[in-house]
Amino acid sequence: MNNGNILVGYENEDIREIIVMMLESEFDYSVKEVNSGQVAISELKEDELLKVLISDIQLKDICGEQVYLANRDHKNLPFVFITKQDLSGVSELSRFNDDNKNNAKLDMPFDHEEFIEVISKALLSLSTHDSSDMAAIPLSQGSKYYRIKIKRFLKFKKAFSNTYIKLSEDKYIKVLNIDELVEHEKFERYLTKGLEFLYLDKQQFNDYLDNRVNALMDKLDQKNLESSEAVSLHLESLQQVQEVAMSVGVKKQIIDLADKLTGNVIDTIKKNKNLKDFLSPTSSGMGYQFEHSNLVNYLVCGIANHLSSLSTDITGQKLIQASIFCDIGLPEDRLMQIISMASDKYIALPQEQKKLVQQHMQEGAKAIGNTNHPMADEIERIILAHHELPDGAGFPKGLTNQQIPLLSAAFILAYNFANQIIMGGKKSNIQIDKIFSAMGASYSQGNFASPYKALKDALK
Ligand SMILES: [Fe+2]
Repeated sequence: MNNGNILVGYENEDIREIIVMMLESEFDYSVKEVNSGQVAISELKEDELLKVLISDIQLKDICGEQVYLANRDHKNLPFVFITKQDLSGVSELSRFNDDNKNNAKLDMPFDHEEFIEVISKALLSLSTHDSSDMAAIPLSQGSKYYRIKIKRFLKFKKAFSNTYIKLSEDKYIKVLNIDELVEHEKFERYLTKGLEFLYLDKQQFNDYLDNRVNALMDKLDQKNLESSEAVSLHLESLQQVQEVAMSVGVKKQIIDLADKLTGNVIDTIKKNKNLKDFLSPTSSGMGYQFEHSNLVNYLVCGIANHLSSLSTDITGQKLIQASIFCDIGLPEDRLMQIISMASDKYIALPQEQKKLVQQHMQEGAKAIGNTNHPMADEIERIILAHHELPDGAGFPKGLTNQQIPLLSAAFILAYNFANQIIMGGKKSNIQIDKIFSAMGASYSQGNFASPYKALKDALK
């Protein structure tokens, strides 16, 4: 039964998906999503079942304020802004809190519980004293389960809580134990059978997130770790940050953990004279994604430490944050390994995967851009350019070594060098010189020249 609709107007697809996921998890309402303000306005005028609107200030075509005014002058339904912008000076919104007592504004990054509370209150304010009132109470309130769409669950490599399929109102069947690996094929079969949701043991899942983040935070406070201990800790932290970011979104908790990881990496590399010690363990078994990001982190630190114009901790932080989030728009290691659109790997991809590769820079940039990270703008710029190449053959813009700024050049060098190390397999340690000579022809020119020299110095 459809208890009503909730409309989410948000241009950023990642954030929109997180908002929709949270609503789907908690309420038995249909959730409609749009990226255009014009479409949002026609929906609010035509959809008789619409109950609540959620919007950003910035939409694809017109501003969220316009959608808000159209709603106020139509049915004046509860309206929730989720945005990082300050709304205090916006004249169209001067009576926002008085127009409807259930209007609300949440700052990005927003708090999950606060968001659910605001929406529940708004839905209850429309009470019709029928069965839909029950649906306005968050499902997780009093429930043991956290509902998640299968397609989002598939972003996990491991189950972090017991996982169930719902058979009826009070019957759930366990399909996966906590800590078991997620067999993607099995869950894809459920999808093709029309099953949409899985249910996680809510307590276990929340405990898992909290415990993992807190434990890693504590560990990252440790100084003077042996290089192998530091590498394991960095890999583990990266896995946590990236898996959560890719499945349930970039939450505040995750930004805090990424910051802590960044600080620890910078500190570790500064204290250790030999950067080479950090390049060998490419056989952690954790896969390309985490090993590659981790290597990029070490290499950018090495470059920054040997290049006076980049040698501040702030520069290191920007480069590492870019490395953490640049590829979170890609679902598979295989796609992350593609460096050039001229490569056989890229050419062999089906059209929709080519599109993912072409667009993943925007996805990564948006994920960080929508947080309150103080360096978000510059990190976004690095992420957007991370597949440019010094010879102009990169994407999306085909910039040349003169057009790519120094900071991006340092990042691109580290990103592609790390790729070469991992693709070279276990022997790569002794092949560092070979990688330098293979890359030297194009990477020792223009704005790449000084980062290239700095990396050579760092790996002497
Ligand atoms: Fe990438």
